[in-house]
Amino acid sequence: MAQEDVFKKIISHCKEYGFVFPSSEIYDGLGAVYDYGQCGVELKNNIKRYWWDAMTLLNENVVGIDSAIFMHPTIWKASGHVDAFNDPLIDNKDSKKRYRADVLIEEHLAGIDDKIAREVEKASRRFGASFDEEQFRTTNPRVMEYQAKRDEVHSRFAKALNDNNLEELRQIIIDTEIVCPVSGTRNWTEVRQFNLMFSTEMGSTADGSTRIYLRPETAQGIFVNFLNVQKSGRMKVPFGIAQIGKAFRNEIVARQFIFRMREFEQMEMQFFVRPGEEIEWFRKWKDARLRWHKAMGLGDAKYRYHDHDKLAHYANAATDIEFEMPFGFKEVEGIHSRTDFDLSQHEKYSGKKIQYFDTELGQSYTPYVIETSIGVDRVFLSILSGAYSEEQLENGESRVVLKLPAELAPVKLAVLPLVKKDGLAEKAEEIMNMLRFDFRCRYDEKDSIGKRYRRQDAIGTPYCITVDHETLQNDTVTIRHRDSMAQERVPVTELNSIISEKVNIKNLLKKIIN
Ligand code: GAP
Repeated sequence: MAQEDVFKKIISHCKEYGFVFPSSEIYDGLGAVYDYGQCGVELKNNIKRYWWDAMTLLNENVVGIDSAIFMHPTIWKASGHVDAFNDPLIDNKDSKKRYRADVLIEEHLAGIDDKIAREVEKASRRFGASFDEEQFRTTNPRVMEYQAKRDEVHSRFAKALNDNNLEELRQIIIDTEIVCPVSGTRNWTEVRQFNLMFSTEMGSTADGSTRIYLRPETAQGIFVNFLNVQKSGRMKVPFGIAQIGKAFRNEIVARQFIFRMREFEQMEMQFFVRPGEEIEWFRKWKDARLRWHKAMGLGDAKYRYHDHDKLAHYANAATDIEFEMPFGFKEVEGIHSRTDFDLSQHEKYSGKKIQYFDTELGQSYTPYVIETSIGVDRVFLSILSGAYSEEQLENGESRVVLKLPAELAPVKLAVLPLVKKDGLAEKAEEIMNMLRFDFRCRYDEKDSIGKRYRRQDAIGTPYCITVDHETLQNDTVTIRHRDSMAQERVPVTELNSIISEKVNIKNLLKKIIN
C-alpha cells in the first residue's frame, strides 16, 4: 500500500476509534488544532508518564516543574522569540493563498529527489542483480543533470537562509518556476517575515493592559525558575529540570495531521552543566534519548539522528532524532547544547544575577545547558505509524490491529463472556471488579467473540480474557494475545500478576538502562 494511503488510513482510524478528532468539528474544525478522544487521551497520558518517569525516576538529579503558560513578556524578548521566531512568508496574488517560502523551495528540492529516485528504481528493475546504484548515479546523464540542478538550488537556498536574505528566497522561487498549487500561477508577492507567537492582552482595559504571549515552548519556564529550583531543591550542578506542557505556534504551513499543530504539547528537559563539560553531556543525552525511543519496540531501523551542520549562533552542538513517518523521516525530538546563552540573556534582561557557586571548584559561573525537547503529539504519531497494521488471516478474514507497546496501550485488557447466559456474564463482571483497580479494563458482551476481538485489536488492547463454561467449573479463563492471536488457559487467580508483568511502564524503563 502506498505510504500516502497508509497515512490517510491512520488519520481516519484515529477518528473512528476515539484517538484524535479535529477540533470544533461540528463548526467545520479549526486549522491544525486537534482534540484527543477517549483512547487518545489514555495513550497520550501513558507517553507522558513514560517520559516523566524516564527523566525523574531514572535520573535522581532531574526534577520536574509545572510553570505557567503566561509569562512576563520580556522573557520572550530575552529568549529572542520576539525578534527572531519568524517564518518567511510569500503570498500568491491570484489565489490569495499564503505559503512559507522555505517550504515551497524544500518541496521543489524534494520533487527533484523523487525524480532521481524514480530513475534509479527504473534502472534497478531493468538491470536486476547486476545493478550498481553508485555507478548509475554518477554516470547517467539525466540523473547527473537533475543532481546538478538540485545542488545549485540547494546551495543558493542554504546561503539565503543563513544570510536571512528574503529577496534571494523570492528569486529562487521565481528562477525555479515554482507555481502556486491552487492558482497554478507564478504571480508572487515579496517575502516577509512573520512572527509565530500568539499574543493576547492581560488586564481589564485596553489602555491598562499588557500584551503577553502564549508560550511557543516550555523551556523558558525552566530557565526563569533555574535559581528557584536550584536553591529550594539544594541542587548541585550537573542537574536537570523537566517539564511537560502546552505550547502554541501560529504555524503557517500546518499540515500532516498532528505532526505540525498550532496548539501542541512538549516534554522538555534542561540539563545544567559546568562550562567545558557540555559536549560530553550532549553525547550522553543524545544516546539516552535514542534508547528511550527504541525501547518502545517500534523498530530500530525507523529511527535516525540528523546532526545539524548549521547551528544557531548560541549552540555548539545539535541533533534531531527522526522517525520514519508515512511521509518520510521527520524530526520528533531535538537535542541541543545551548551554551550559557539562555541564562545569560535572562541575567541581562532581568538585571538579576543568575549564577551557580560550585563548591568543589570554589567559583561561580553561569551553567551551560543541554536541552532535550520532544513533542508529545509527534511521539503519539510515531507510535501510531509504527503500530498500525492490516493483516490477512488464515480464515480469509482481515483485521486492523494497533500493535502498540502493551505498556502504553490505552486499554490493557478486555473481559469477554463467551455468551451472556448461563452465569458467564456475572462471572466476567466479578473478574472485571477484581482487575479494575490495577488496569484500565473494558467489558464487552455484544456480538460474536470474533467481532469483539477485532474491536479490541483496533484500539490496541494487548489482552482479551474470555470467560467460558469451563471457567465456572475450574476458575480458569483464556488469555488471547493481540499480536500472535494465540490463546492460553490460566487460573483466574494468576491474571493480575500475568498482566501486570506485561503492561508495567517499568518494562520500558528497564530497557533504557540495560
Ligand atoms: N525549546 C526548543 C524547541 O522548542 P523545537 O525544535 O522548536 O525546539 C521541539 O521544538 C519539539 O517540539 C520538536 O522536535 C517537535 O517534536 C515539537 N514541535 C515543535 N513544533 C511543533 C508543532 N507545530 N506541532 C507539533 N509538535 C511540534
